[in-house]
Amino acid sequence: MKKILITGAAGFIGSHVARLFVNKYPDYEIFNLDKLTYAGNLENLKDFDKAPNYKFILGDIVDGDFIMNLFKEHKFDGVIHLAAESHVDRSIENPMEFIMANIVGTVNLLNAAKHIWEGNYEGKRFYHVSTDEVYGSLGEEGFFYEDTPYDPHSPYSASKASSDHLVRAYHDTYGLPIIISNCSNNYGPNQFPEKLVPLFINNIRHNKPLPVYGKGENVRDWLYVIDHAAAIDVIYHNGPTGETFNIGGHNEWTNIDLIKVVCKVMDEKLGREVGTSEKLITYVTDRAGHDLRYAIDSSKLQNELGWKPSLQFEEGINLTIDWYLNNQEWLDNVTSGNYQKYYEEMYGDR
Ligand code: NAD
Ligand code: TYD
Repeated sequence: MKKILITGAAGFIGSHVARLFVNKYPDYEIFNLDKLTYAGNLENLKDFDKAPNYKFILGDIVDGDFIMNLFKEHKFDGVIHLAAESHVDRSIENPMEFIMANIVGTVNLLNAAKHIWEGNYEGKRFYHVSTDEVYGSLGEEGFFYEDTPYDPHSPYSASKASSDHLVRAYHDTYGLPIIISNCSNNYGPNQFPEKLVPLFINNIRHNKPLPVYGKGENVRDWLYVIDHAAAIDVIYHNGPTGETFNIGGHNEWTNIDLIKVVCKVMDEKLGREVGTSEKLITYVTDRAGHDLRYAIDSSKLQNELGWKPSLQFEEGINLTIDWYLNNQEWLDNVTSGNYQKYYEEMYGDR
């Protein structure tokens, strides 16, 4: 039996990756290590958390001794590392949490893998899941390629860039069998409603203002989360050691156009008069250091490993909105407690 540690699998993307691996590979033992921060939610896992090949471990990747002992105990064959602080706005308010989780946490995992594998790397793999935001901001033309120079602008993207560099350094220095992917913006079920899509779905549901940063002209390249999980599966199993793969859906939207689509679909599904939700759009102060445009060229992944997105955006956004409307209890649970305080602090003076 292969033992695979997935970090951060109580979060948005990690839960979809863990579900895929638990169901598709019954002969793997899947361990989910998660600290259960505000973004980690065991409810995301409830359809498979009793599976015989799945185990949850509560713990913090920042705690180096804990991580080393965990690796010594379980002798993992593979690591898929997703645990991170992931929200740009929070990184602007509190960078140090991002430095600790994203940089120190990653190095703790690298050290533990290096220690237990002791240079015997046959059948071993350390997969680091990263973001396209490390490449910085594009102008109106062009794409991010795997060899685009790093140019991060937010504390979040700088901390992810730093972790990517350290993962590569452990490959180049110690021969650690690493692989990295950099993915564009994800949307889909189970995303914490601080990110654009679920935040706006939730606000529309409650007839609350939709805070559009700046003029809403920033461009993001959106990928359905289940397609990201499928890409991670393909790269984990078939990607050559030491390589990087960009993942994206060739699906660029300005924020304002995307928001208008969400408003239209929500009006239809809630039986509201056409144009009702758009009236909630409120332009607010721009995010500091706001990257203008992200766009991924994923042809390396498509050509070398045969991955491609499984669905078009229209279908994906419909499925996504249906999921949030059918899982209002999930939304209500994650927006109780500290969420109101977060919202007040983040949007109160915008
Ligand atoms: P998320 O915030 O939804 O989930 C992060 C998970 O990590 C949570 O379950 C949280 O409890 C856990 N975690 C945080 N700090 C931890 C710590 N110190 N120890 C253990 N667990 C900890 O994030 P997400 O959107 O699912 O992103 C997952 C990964 O994918 C991140 O590394 C992120 O940088 C990357 N990524 C995200 C996107 C996106 O659009 N969301 C795009 C590309 C890459
Ligand atoms: P977000 O979902 O935070 O992802 P990222 O910053 O990692 O791309 O934001 C997506 C885009 O939406 C980004 O350009 C910022 C913008 N945005 C708003 O206009 N209003 C909001 O309330 C949020 C959260 C984001």
